[in-house]
Amino acid sequence: MCGIVGYIGQRAADSVLLDGLKRLEYRGYDSAGVALLDPDYSSDIQIVRRTGRVANLSDALKPGTNKSRMGISHTRWATHGDVTEVNAHPHSSSDGRFAMVHNGVIENHTSMRRFLESKGFVFKSQTDTEALVNLIAYHYDKETVQEPEKRFYEAVRKSLFHVEGTYGIAVVCKDCPDTLIGARRGSPLIVGVGKGEHLLASDVNAIASRTTNVIYLNDGEIALLNKDNFAISTTSDEGVEAVIHTVDWDTTDAELGNFSHFMEKEIFEQPQALQNGMRGRFADDGSTAMFGGLNLSPSELRLIDRIVFIGCGTAWHAGLVAEYLIERFARIPVEVEYASEFRYRNAPLDKNTLVVAMSQSGETIDTLAALREAKRKGYKTLAINNSVGSSIAREADGGIYQHAGPEIGVASTKAFTSQVMLAAMLALYLGRIRDLSYSDGAAMVEAFKSLPDLVSRTLTCAESIRKIAAKYSQYNDFLFLGRQEMFPIALEGALKLKEISYIHAEGYPAAEMKHGPIALICEECPSVFLATNGEIFQKTLANIQEIKARKGKVICILTENCDMPDDLVDDSVIVPEAHEAIQPILMSIPVQLLSYYIALERGCDVDKPRNLAKSVTVE
Ligand code: AGP
Ligand code: GLU
Repeated sequence: MCGIVGYIGQRAADSVLLDGLKRLEYRGYDSAGVALLDPDYSSDIQIVRRTGRVANLSDALKPGTNKSRMGISHTRWATHGDVTEVNAHPHSSSDGRFAMVHNGVIENHTSMRRFLESKGFVFKSQTDTEALVNLIAYHYDKETVQEPEKRFYEAVRKSLFHVEGTYGIAVVCKDCPDTLIGARRGSPLIVGVGKGEHLLASDVNAIASRTTNVIYLNDGEIALLNKDNFAISTTSDEGVEAVIHTVDWDTTDAELGNFSHFMEKEIFEQPQALQNGMRGRFADDGSTAMFGGLNLSPSELRLIDRIVFIGCGTAWHAGLVAEYLIERFARIPVEVEYASEFRYRNAPLDKNTLVVAMSQSGETIDTLAALREAKRKGYKTLAINNSVGSSIAREADGGIYQHAGPEIGVASTKAFTSQVMLAAMLALYLGRIRDLSYSDGAAMVEAFKSLPDLVSRTLTCAESIRKIAAKYSQYNDFLFLGRQEMFPIALEGALKLKEISYIHAEGYPAAEMKHGPIALICEECPSVFLATNGEIFQKTLANIQEIKARKGKVICILTENCDMPDDLVDDSVIVPEAHEAIQPILMSIPVQLLSYYIALERGCDVDKPRNLAKSVTVE
């Protein structure tokens, strides 16, 4: 679930690995470790692990003092066993011959462990991972092939046959200090191809400063790497013709620049991220959007009777906004499902259903599994995704890349607004091949084109939000309320606040508040209202009155022409008024800033919130 970096080459492995781990820190983790192999075979695999930050590991390792030119490393996000040094990766086999790092979950680890213990293997940790590294040692002992590299490869390959669950692994063997093996199923792993060196990583970020040539491993593939060459095969031992992709990745995108946190940087770079996402995606007639990668013709799309969005967390919220916009502009019924529920629910779907996977990382295991389930049933699938070459992008039938640039902050901000924008542009496209008129389409195109400027204008409210945040930062419960498209933004506002400031917050449709949550209203529970001008505004005002009548404090984020009675709300933030297709994006900016500044006031580690990981590749 967290980070893997492996290296074989001519440089000092400890420095390369630590550098890679630092670049993966944003993903959220609880401990880190490295295993290094001595190039002259003379000593054991050296393993150093620490709980907490990569800096602790670096202090212990003293990079530059080790001669090793090869090793593996890991940042752990514990699933099995406490956060302790003993449970941190790499794990070694009980004979010390192998060391392995692992992302994912070995579901049948208990039976594996029992079997291995009966054969005399001794376990040191509580992790599921240790079962697999010992199984590799078990198969190595049984292997009849004598040549060490082939024997190592066969031991890994045969062991993987017995795994139920998910893995991205990197393994080293003391007998083969010239060989590094990686494999994946359900957890991402890429091979970096350099000159006289090869790398393994769970995320392109870790190695992009070293090479831009990468191979995306598919599930069920094994990579065998030496300094100067590599071979990819399947777990059934069939050779795979590897395709080397060039990563279009500017490493400065993943650096902080003048900002204090990645979350702040990513909030403020939204005008550019949105601009990049719409570039080249409007038709010449100025009335519709166009997408190169849908792989569905207009006539095929006209046959679609229903769209189901699948996603998790923030991406699920983006799907909810899409539901409102696509139903309004394209008149196609939309449902939005938690991917984790969809994958097991076995919901009956019409034959003309399009399933759209929404995922920033493209690696979220629940979304990937839900996508596979939809494909297995024969539905057409699309992905809205920010990571070129990710598993979801590769497995969907077609897709729309977000081009929002890497999102490092664990709390999603620019990826969310970019997903909402692309969903709105999809609504325009689908609307225009149905009943949306030329002039309505042209008005939407104009609105999208004005979006980056409007977002920049909205961002100027940052200073006033900082003051509001200072005033409210000590409250421990918040409600976020909005109607129609503002309801998902309310959910997103509550999620952002929870994630980075650990404040309990809930989002509701504003009118739903009367059906229960109103019991929470008191002076100690402020409500954040999202109010837009239009037919529903008076209804929202009535909901605000209901809160005020119960002494609740109200922060209102409202569009500029709303006729808000003086003194009704305690604090307000004014957002530019815009076309309905883009208003949700503008309203998202203040809720992002509010959670960011409240978290700062409370001294929280904004970019590395506790317990969270950037991409959730375990169930
Ligand atoms: C967002 O702030 C969260 N960290 C989380 O809800 C996230 O959106 C979710 O895990 C889905 O991620 P994905 O877009 O990479 O699939
Ligand atoms: N399941 C393993 C553990 O708990 C790997 C966790 C991870 O993906 O970081 O150690």
